[in-house]
Amino acid sequence: MSVKNNLCGYITVFAAAAMFLISTTGCTPLEKPDTDQSSFSSASDISAVSEEEKENVTSDKNYSLPADKPDGTESEWQIRLVNINNPLPESYKPETVSFPNNAQQGVSVDVRMKDALDDMIAAAQKDGTGLYVYSAYRSFQRQTELFDNSVGQLMQQGKTKADAESETAKNIAVPGTSEHQYGLAADIVNADFFVTNPSGVLDVSFDETQASKWLRSNAHKYGFILRYPKDKTGITKINYEPWHYRYVGKEHAANIKNLGITLEEYVK
Ligand code: DAL
Ligand code: ZN
Repeated sequence: MSVKNNLCGYITVFAAAAMFLISTTGCTPLEKPDTDQSSFSSASDISAVSEEEKENVTSDKNYSLPADKPDGTESEWQIRLVNINNPLPESYKPETVSFPNNAQQGVSVDVRMKDALDDMIAAAQKDGTGLYVYSAYRSFQRQTELFDNSVGQLMQQGKTKADAESETAKNIAVPGTSEHQYGLAADIVNADFFVTNPSGVLDVSFDETQASKWLRSNAHKYGFILRYPKDKTGITKINYEPWHYRYVGKEHAANIKNLGITLEEYVK
């Protein structure tokens, strides 16, 4: 099959997946995709410039980051904690660059991790494992939309607002506290994700894929860590997310992997 035919096939499948997602109701919050692509309103949006692209601000540095270490100092940028206890200022905008993502709608990533992400995807491809960056940088506004959508769905199912918010916060970080807003996180899945998951929904079954296995074994070589491990939810306060990788640089990634700890524990 030619490259062009292949591309058309992907776009068709992707469009079908997007249409299916739009028409699907009753998606539980646990199934709710942690994605920038869940809000496509029509198949034509697929080729549109993403909101993240439009918000690609490279010069607005009108913020200062608060301390993230217990001693009141700030970690170096690679290992800066962004979590429920260490929010980013609402005005925070990293310098981002477009990441084309297999010729589909691209995502934006912090410029400081782009080369590492490129290298990792190329290395996986060389090993016969296709990877796809499902979601990367998100604005504060985008994170808020994702969070509020999930809360709304849970409330429709009869949960109180407080319960809906606390359940959502385990899957979609409270706006201001997401590493996606920091720009150094990427949700990475298998390249044929929309073929194997027509609903486009991320769930822990991704764990069983070759892509997940490859990432678990190799991501640290390119500076990425699995940020929300299965056995560390008590520390991260986020449910297991086998697709969410955080760029911390090669040295820190190797240390964190060897120690078997989270970023929270590493930065302490
Ligand atoms: N899904 C992760 C926790 C986020 O929203 O940042
Ligand atoms: Zn994520």
